[in-house]
Amino acid sequence: MTLRPDPDGIAQAARLLAGGETVALPTETVYGLAADARNGTAVAQIYAAKGRPDFNPLIVHLPDTAAAAAVGDLSGDAERLADVFWPGALTLVVPLRPGAGIAGIVTAGLDTVGLRVPAHPVAQAVLRASGLALAMPSANLSGRISPTTAAHVLDPAGGLDGRIAAVLDGGACPVGVESTIVGWRGGLATLLRPGGIPAEAIEAALGAPLARATTVSAPDAPGQLASHYAPAAPVRLDADTARPGETLIGFGAVQAALTLSASGDLTEAAARLFDTLRAADRLGRPIAVAPIPHHGLGLAINDRLTRAAAPRA
Ligand code: TXA
Ligand code: MG
Repeated sequence: MTLRPDPDGIAQAARLLAGGETVALPTETVYGLAADARNGTAVAQIYAAKGRPDFNPLIVHLPDTAAAAAVGDLSGDAERLADVFWPGALTLVVPLRPGAGIAGIVTAGLDTVGLRVPAHPVAQAVLRASGLALAMPSANLSGRISPTTAAHVLDPAGGLDGRIAAVLDGGACPVGVESTIVGWRGGLATLLRPGGIPAEAIEAALGAPLARATTVSAPDAPGQLASHYAPAAPVRLDADTARPGETLIGFGAVQAALTLSASGDLTEAAARLFDTLRAADRLGRPIAVAPIPHHGLGLAINDRLTRAAAPRA
């Protein structure tokens, strides 16, 4: 069922969620598949719908910082980052408050929890109408491309149609890549996943560089598995031209029919990334992608592209 982002649709989504169902809804980063984070059975349906390995913890979404502080310990650097970047495309991994009632399946048994206050008006409306903390991974089959439109969520090839109660259609997600994830290791603020907020902006707010998570085999953010954002076709990176039979995805000076941004704009490229990968994948040929700079949102774009190009598990 597709719901409209009007008061009726929001109320219906809130009712379904309160009743223990799963609903896909837009955030400013990507579409998420939501369930009541205090209802373990409801959350289990997220894992089932996505075919997600059960060791992979979920982000808990709250309407504001006060509600987030009731679920996790937001102090020191975490409090500062919440003040600067929430609502927005930032997830903070902080100590879980055991009394908050978050189902163990959400954190996969960890004593930390990933918290995010999204800015998207539709996500905000559902959080407020339902009064729930919402566990919400990206609304795609595990290991597939994250959805940035309601049509992606329901895509007959690799989407969730028939596996979820409803999708709330709020149009295209403006940011287009997932949230940046920051956690603390040995007291050091650490970039666990690059995303919609550039690492440089976080470092400016902290007044210190972020440590970088380097391990891939025993990841702190298990979504950091080598092959995660995988189109069906093989992907070759840093391509200046297409080889015979390849579909080229352009950027800036590397011009192609399919492009992330003809003007070389990283914000536009992030917003178009997953849509463009899908469009290229539909052509059924190997994919080559132009070089993308490694600064600002380029870090998140390159991270997703590297996963898309990784050997398949
Ligand atoms: O933009 C986003 O972050 C989207 C929207 C829907 O909010 N959500 C999203 O969720 O990308 P997901 O499940 O696809 O990715 C969440 C990442 C995973 O890599 C997971 O392992 C990590 O967050 N994560 C969640 N809780 C964690 C924790 N306690 N410790 C370490 N990593 C955690
Ligand atoms: Mg995901």
